[in-house]
Amino acid sequence: MSDAIEAALQATPAIEIKDVWRTFQRLDGSAPFTALQDIRLDVRAGTFVAIIGGSGCGKSTLLRIIAGLVPPSRGTVLHEGKPVHGPHHSRGFVFQGDAVFPWLTVRRNIEFGLQCRGIPAAERKRTAETWAAAVGLADFIEAFPKELSGGMRKRVDLARVYANDPDVLLMDEPFGALDAQTKERMQVELLGLWDRTRKTVLFVTHDVDEAVFLADEIVVMAARPGRIAERIKVPLPRPRDERSRVSDAFEETRRRLRKLLEDLAPATTPAR
Ligand SMILES: Nc1ncnc2c1ncn2[C@@H]1O[C@H](COP(=O)(O)OP(=O)(O)OP(=O)(O)O)[C@@H](O)[C@H]1O
Ligand SMILES: [Mg+2]
Repeated sequence: MSDAIEAALQATPAIEIKDVWRTFQRLDGSAPFTALQDIRLDVRAGTFVAIIGGSGCGKSTLLRIIAGLVPPSRGTVLHEGKPVHGPHHSRGFVFQGDAVFPWLTVRRNIEFGLQCRGIPAAERKRTAETWAAAVGLADFIEAFPKELSGGMRKRVDLARVYANDPDVLLMDEPFGALDAQTKERMQVELLGLWDRTRKTVLFVTHDVDEAVFLADEIVVMAARPGRIAERIKVPLPRPRDERSRVSDAFEETRRRLRKLLEDLAPATTPAR
């Protein structure tokens, strides 16, 4: 085994989810509800992991726990070997709806996180311009969000997160609100950014095709209680492009994933 491969195998995973449980109290006082049961998952640095499963199986809760937005009831999440105790800019979060501020220009939106961290103006300006260009919005950098389409606002969102230079991107159905064509274009663009930066990505989706097209590995979750049912490696070579969507490997993985989700139904039937 080469030294490089051995070092990669021995390296601390970017994210380690150790025996994580999450329960929620019910308002009617009945027994607490187990949203996540004994989740264990290691994610190696630089990998693209999709998390799929039906509504209510705990995908968002798991992502929020990794982000540090919600504490686990039991267990721990380690980021680069250190326990997560709260949100940090090294873990960027992208929500389904866009999280752009309507009263700020594209430039000021992208700069916002950097400003909060006290990054000097000249560096902020440079970074905002780099990321606006990377997402194809160089000509719209002084525009306000209301002047942009849904797909363009999503690009601002991506630029905003990338500008903070996180190690890990946590994406909760980021393209869920886009039309099918824009969604496919954004998937290709995201893979372009990922190829350039090789950030670790955890990407929640309901969409089987999206998971197969994007991910190295797909974590399939089941509901009641929310748990990991299966992990599937995606055998599609990289870099991927539109041709990847019509390959035999794509079709085969897609079929396998659909069957798995059907077997886990009715509680976890995917949206498509
Ligand atoms: N703050 C909360 N209080 C009480 N119950 C909650 C809370 N947050 C989530 N839950 C419950 O935990 C379960 C998992 O919710 P979660 O939002 O993580 O599911 P999901 O897999 O993301 O679903 P969807 O695909 O619909 O987004 C649901 O049954 C939900 O009602
Ligand atoms: Mg959700």
